[in-house]
Amino acid sequence: MNFFDNIPTIRYQGPEATDPFSFRYYDAERMVAGKTMAEHLRFAVSCWHTFLGTGQDIFGSAVHSRSWSGANDPMERARMTIRAAFEFCQKIGMQYYCFHDRDIAPEGETFAQSCKNLEEIVKLAGELQKETGVKLLWGTANLFSNPRFTHGASTNPNAHVFAYAAAQVKHAMDATKELGGDGYVFWGGREGYETLLNTDMKKEQENLATFLHMAVDYAKKIGFTGQFLIEPKPKEPTKHQYDFDAGTVLGFLRAYGLIDHFKLNIEANHATLAGHTFAHELTVAASAGKLGSIDVNRGDLLLGWDTDQFPTDLYETTQAMLVLLQHGGIGRGGLNFDAKLRRGSTDLEDLFHAHIGGMDTFARGLLVADKIISDGKLNDCIAKRYSSYESGIGKTIRDGKADFDMLEKWILENGEPKLMSGRQEYLENLLNCYI
Ligand code: GLC
Ligand code: MN
Ligand code: MN
Repeated sequence: MNFFDNIPTIRYQGPEATDPFSFRYYDAERMVAGKTMAEHLRFAVSCWHTFLGTGQDIFGSAVHSRSWSGANDPMERARMTIRAAFEFCQKIGMQYYCFHDRDIAPEGETFAQSCKNLEEIVKLAGELQKETGVKLLWGTANLFSNPRFTHGASTNPNAHVFAYAAAQVKHAMDATKELGGDGYVFWGGREGYETLLNTDMKKEQENLATFLHMAVDYAKKIGFTGQFLIEPKPKEPTKHQYDFDAGTVLGFLRAYGLIDHFKLNIEANHATLAGHTFAHELTVAASAGKLGSIDVNRGDLLLGWDTDQFPTDLYETTQAMLVLLQHGGIGRGGLNFDAKLRRGSTDLEDLFHAHIGGMDTFARGLLVADKIISDGKLNDCIAKRYSSYESGIGKTIRDGKADFDMLEKWILENGEPKLMSGRQEYLENLLNCYI
């Protein structure tokens, strides 16, 4: 069955192209800074939004209806949906996909039935991967939709739920391994609390750490070598989530002896919800050597929740690609479109416009970032700003050979430091020259 017959295969046609079903910047094979665009960007489609999204919100029911969602039998629906996913990836030239266990296969009456359902669809997905060459970027378990997870998964006050979550993650890891996934994501949407009046925060965080250690042990046991990723988000659905932001997660991983086993999956809109910029969160993760993968989307400045919109802001994508290029790239991670159509974007073709726009905006951001780096002006300014650490007293400090007594003596001899401009407006203008 073909689900996208009315849509042409999307190809690169160059910046002058007027065909909305073409890429103007994303040219998969084009070399940029020593790698192809496809190698830099490793785009992925997210099964939950792109193939299951209905435009539903808390004020209204589904408005998007898709031909692959029509079957009455949930397993037949799942088979059609995974076929649609691979056809979509081929049409648009997406190399990877990401899923939660419950996106690709429905829950059954019992846990055992749920596992069987998942195994069947995983087998089909494996065949489709072989047929199409599309690969799995990462898999994960949905530990937040079912009512049993209302009070959390591994941080649930009820040990029975902890055990259920563990059993579910075990199978989701098996599925990810079988499909050759490059990563496995832990997003703790309900790992947090609503009120301290009923919460033992310390116990919950210890349990979360115990759970993650079990996952590390299980990966070793089955020989899963994909990268474990934690995706920070400060709130929503829970009022206060333990994986608040990149800095908080890094501190948590260090405190519980997990730091060597995890990297971070940074999502643009989760960064802004935490009161940071996307580039800030990427930089925190990358500076610690822990930038593992990215969920690309954006929020809305006027709204305080996770709108998961498709990325269209060239300033944001340029800054993101600057961080990536300067920190050696995304490795085994990728750029996953964790983004959904607006409720009013009802048509199948809107799915294509959305992904084309996102891919082009990142491809263009990559080109701009590469130009900024090769021109060197921006980095020269930064290097100059810190040049006092290259020699003299600055070098002594950097070498770890200074102490307070020595610096007091030095100040008594050298007096007042000279105030230097940060040149912010100049640099903002400079950035505009490239964009
Ligand atoms: C949920 C979150 C999303 C996360 C995904 C993977 O869908 O909304 O941000 O990336 O789960 O766990
Ligand atoms: Mn995400
Ligand atoms: Mn989000």
